[in-house]
Amino acid sequence: MSGNEIRELFLSFFESKGHTRVKSASLVPESDPTLLFTNAGMVPFKNVFLGLEKRPYKRAVSCQKCLRVSGKHNDLESVGYTSRHHTFFEMLGNFSFGDYFKREAILYAWEFVTEYLKLPKEKLYVSVFRDDEEAYRIWNEEVGLPSERIWRLGEEDNFWQMGDTGPCGPSSEIYVDRGEEYGEERFLEIWNLVFMQYNRDEKGNLTPLPNPNIDTGMGLERIASVLQGTKTNFEIDLIKPLIDFGQEISGKTYGENFEDTVAMRVIADHLRAITFAISDGVLPSNTARGYVIRRILRRALRFGYKLGIREPFLYKGVDVVVEVMKDAYPELLQTRAFVKGVVKAEEERFLHTFRNSMPVVEEFINTALEEGRRFLKGEEVFKLYDTYGFPLDLLEEIAKEKGLSLDMEGFEREMEIQRERARQNFKIQTKEVQPIYQHLKNIGRTSTFVGYEQYVAQSKVIALLKNGELVSELKEGEEGEVFLDITPFYAERGGQIGDTGTIESVDGLFVVDDTQSPVDGVISHKGKVVKGTIKVGDQVIASIDRERREDIKRNHTATHLLHSALRLVLGEHVRQAGSLVADKYLRFDFTHFQALSVDELKRVEELVNEQIRKNEPVIVEEKDYREAIKEGAIAIFEEKYGERVRVLSVGDFSKELCGGTHVSRTGEIGYFKIISESSIGAGLRRIVAKTGRWAVEEAFLESLTLKQVAQSLGVSTEEVLEGLSKLQERVKELERELQRVKSESARKQAKERIKEEGFGEYTLFYGVLEDVEGDLLRELADQFRQGRTKTVVFLASKREGKLSTLIALSKDLVGSLSAKELIKEVGKVLGGGGGGRDDLAQGGGTKPENFEKALELLKEKLR
Ligand code: ALA
Repeated sequence: MSGNEIRELFLSFFESKGHTRVKSASLVPESDPTLLFTNAGMVPFKNVFLGLEKRPYKRAVSCQKCLRVSGKHNDLESVGYTSRHHTFFEMLGNFSFGDYFKREAILYAWEFVTEYLKLPKEKLYVSVFRDDEEAYRIWNEEVGLPSERIWRLGEEDNFWQMGDTGPCGPSSEIYVDRGEEYGEERFLEIWNLVFMQYNRDEKGNLTPLPNPNIDTGMGLERIASVLQGTKTNFEIDLIKPLIDFGQEISGKTYGENFEDTVAMRVIADHLRAITFAISDGVLPSNTARGYVIRRILRRALRFGYKLGIREPFLYKGVDVVVEVMKDAYPELLQTRAFVKGVVKAEEERFLHTFRNSMPVVEEFINTALEEGRRFLKGEEVFKLYDTYGFPLDLLEEIAKEKGLSLDMEGFEREMEIQRERARQNFKIQTKEVQPIYQHLKNIGRTSTFVGYEQYVAQSKVIALLKNGELVSELKEGEEGEVFLDITPFYAERGGQIGDTGTIESVDGLFVVDDTQSPVDGVISHKGKVVKGTIKVGDQVIASIDRERREDIKRNHTATHLLHSALRLVLGEHVRQAGSLVADKYLRFDFTHFQALSVDELKRVEELVNEQIRKNEPVIVEEKDYREAIKEGAIAIFEEKYGERVRVLSVGDFSKELCGGTHVSRTGEIGYFKIISESSIGAGLRRIVAKTGRWAVEEAFLESLTLKQVAQSLGVSTEEVLEGLSKLQERVKELERELQRVKSESARKQAKERIKEEGFGEYTLFYGVLEDVEGDLLRELADQFRQGRTKTVVFLASKREGKLSTLIALSKDLVGSLSAKELIKEVGKVLGGGGGGRDDLAQGGGTKPENFEKALELLKEKLR
């Protein structure tokens, strides 16, 4: 019987018994915070059991998608190694909500198993909860099972509950005897009948439910395996195509060796899990649910890696899942393209990390094994985590396979060292406080900052500094620092630059070109009096440069979005290592082990712009520090923040502690554009980006430049690259042509101007050529001396009033004569010098008119 037939048979059997057929609910439990994923058929009916919800039916039957990967029912790490563990599986179940109870539940189950599935009665066994006399009696007397085939078991086996809290009750299970040849797996549990009678609360207390209910569960894969006579669940018709997929993609054979077999099972199982979960809207991410899916996907990839697969492949397997399951779950057809896209992107991203880090992981493991260590050192774990972004849970699993653990204490120590380094770094950056500012603080000359809400404030001058000394006034033309009781000026902090603007009194105007806070609470407005005089005690209007501040705000919020986007695209290991939020651009430094690909940059930029288009509100909340961290807010330097902190969130995309100024909705940012990405040290990258009007200007200038390039190439902008490579080709062609012409001319000249002269026992070739380059001279010389003996070549080339020279000797002369020496001698006559080897030397001179003389000298030497 095929899987699809069994599913349908079950549903229609119970329909014939007055049950309503209920479609499988989503893998994501609707509004149940106690549960990450639907892990049993009863989950969608939980509130009905609890009496909190009424349905138009009292009997239901379903085939429910389930995922057992977290909480009470978690099988993730067993998958692959055993015959029957799955993350994803289908559960067949019938339910009674205060309608029938034990008797019918047992009788229906017996009827279905023996008459419909036609399992031989003598092969069936059941278990009941220790004290459940009623269930025992029904099996024994009404069904007629002999007492030796009814086992009484304890809580462990025969008391079922959904989670730590929720509906629960004693149960009765049906087993098949598969025969002695199955060893430990001889008795296989196929169906669990739960008599839901209680609700367990947080304290563990049981209270009776308003009505006794029935909840049953039969794993479709398991019963299919029994009926189809397969050794494990993985060979049934619903899963085998996925095993085949694994064989095909890896070229390995299922069943041949244990490791490969496990890997193929893992891939088959996990493919079902991720396909169904993503189809139900759970995207791989770092939130609780998303992370589980990410983990499963990565686990599948890792087993793929073990099989030798190095390219994204899971997304192809999605098609196989859809093909097998589409009749029962037609929604898979609608989501197929989406699921494949998500899986592929995630695969690419992770493989990237994996390719870089797997050799390192292997090296660490091998070293540990060689050294007889039973663990990976803290610094090794840290390095993989910090430099490569390797997920710790995965590392733990890989290490475990080799019998190794992770030294997490050592890891924490490394983390602390790293934090300390960052702190030190931060401290070095903070300049020493000059005593004058500390003095101002001591005498209470501190400012109240109102610049989160206000750009203009009425205020009073509380102190003035000129050349670092207290003064009572600053006159026109004088530079200095102004201190106010209230100020809208943001002093540079947390990477955000200080505000600029004006401070105006009745008879003076001070232009602020920077704002700093040398000591907490003391705010220095630095600048110059451009008109009149500013005096201590003056009432003033302090106004910041609004447009500039708006620009800064855009860049600051965009910095947070960029940070989140980087973590999403590259991984959790990305950490901020520095940041500058200016008006015209932003600069963001972060940890990552290699350059971003064009595709990654594009995705990062696109993610940020997507958040901008969503126009999400930017919410600022004041919170207790610990509370904020618990909620997952990112904090860069912990000690920078006091107990109460500002938490800045953008939808569920970004949450960071931040004291800076921000836009109120992301839409205000307008546009985000990455300008550059570069390395600033080992494992450190830097992104420079622009927002708003500056990004627009950048885009305009870029496209203008492109247009100008296109214009001067005489092509359209789309054809620029093509145009350029054509141009380059043409240049190369011309160079070749030029080279050819030159050597032709050199040869021609050589024929006309180079003389051959017998000289005693030597043959001498000599002559002056016009404008022949050094390498051509060498070529010519080689031609003259090749295959000859006792031959001396003396060539010169005239160019712009100067002479390049060359002397070459046939091989046999080397030893008795030296070209290097000769070229130096003739160089003297020619007003220059030279050098090279004994068989060939080159030189130059400024007196071409002396060539004849040089020739004479050479002859002299030869004599
Ligand atoms: N809810 C019961 C189980 O999952 C039937 O086994």
